Amino acid sequence: MVNKDFQHQSVLVEESIEALSLRKGDIVVDCTAGGGGHAEKIWERIAPNGLLVCIDRDPTAIEYLQTRFSSLIEEKKVVVIKNRFSQLETISKMLNISGRVGAILADLGVSSVQLDQGERGFSFLKDAPLDMRMDPSSHAQSAADVLASLDEKELAAIFFKLGEETQARQIARAIVREREKNPIKTTQQLVNIVTAVKGVQKKKKHPATLVFQALRIFVNEELEELQALLTHSFSVLKPHGRLAIISFQSLEDRIVKTFFKEKSDKLSNNMNLKYLPVREDDIILRAEGRIIKPFPLLPENEEIISNKRSRSAKLRVIEKLGTNEPKT
Ligand SMILES: C[S@@+](CC[C@H](N)C(=O)[O-])C[C@H]1O[C@@H](n2cnc3c(N)ncnc32)[C@H](O)[C@@H]1O
Repeated sequence: MVNKDFQHQSVLVEESIEALSLRKGDIVVDCTAGGGGHAEKIWERIAPNGLLVCIDRDPTAIEYLQTRFSSLIEEKKVVVIKNRFSQLETISKMLNISGRVGAILADLGVSSVQLDQGERGFSFLKDAPLDMRMDPSSHAQSAADVLASLDEKELAAIFFKLGEETQARQIARAIVREREKNPIKTTQQLVNIVTAVKGVQKKKKHPATLVFQALRIFVNEELEELQALLTHSFSVLKPHGRLAIISFQSLEDRIVKTFFKEKSDKLSNNMNLKYLPVREDDIILRAEGRIIKPFPLLPENEEIISNKRSRSAKLRVIEKLGTNEPKT
């Protein structure tokens, strides 16, 4: 599914909408509304009396969503909010929907529009200022600020932890050496530094892929955002409400998988059996969620062929249990 004006091809659309088990009249929050591809399909399922809340932190996406849903916004059936999804709980309280939401969707990462707008600095294929902020109007540090201000060890840790870049230390050292001569301000400068360290290997990923990924995740605090969203999701959902997350790399998927496991485990998360003398009778069985599919849903081959970006996508879905359900 591609939008003419906002060139982003949505991923796992049918699968995620199906898995959310939407009903007419539901209240749904799309935490990463982007070009509105998922949002539009959600609306079709919950219309005409549902409420769709579209969140995005990117002003370009917000402007586009406001146009795309203008008549539904006027009718107060769609609300478009420029914010980070870590603020889900605050947003839900503000809209008075906390505990009443039937489904939450987050389709993580960047949109193709963000990658394609060269001046945003997300792409190693386009020379541009090294910005990488999903919200350029925020006061957050840009990627250039990060490269200028962190020391060699800190930079290496970012490349290694967030990019799983095996030559993280050598790249960090080369950056520090270069910035003593010239400030690193553009994507091309960074590409040149990384390529000089790693070399170009035919048929392999672009040498700067992992460094760019790591910097983007760091600049936008993507893992912290995801963790906060998960933490708040269960208080926002109503009983039997569902949460679907589409992730694109292993760090995100690991966070989602761990959270889902904790929520669906029968033992209370607060009960640390290692330190407490717990008798069997004292063990409280209280899973809060039910994982909808034991394995993540992946795109079909056809989707991967028509949309290369979908190849690393994984969809996981969990349902909040009802208050009176047996917990054993
Ligand atoms: C992959 S795109 C979503 C595309 C959308 N599902 C569609 O069908 O068009 C991800 C979007 O999430 C937004 N985003 C990423 N992290 C965010 C966060 N922490 N808070 C709010 N929006 C975020 C990005 O700005 C981007 O527009």
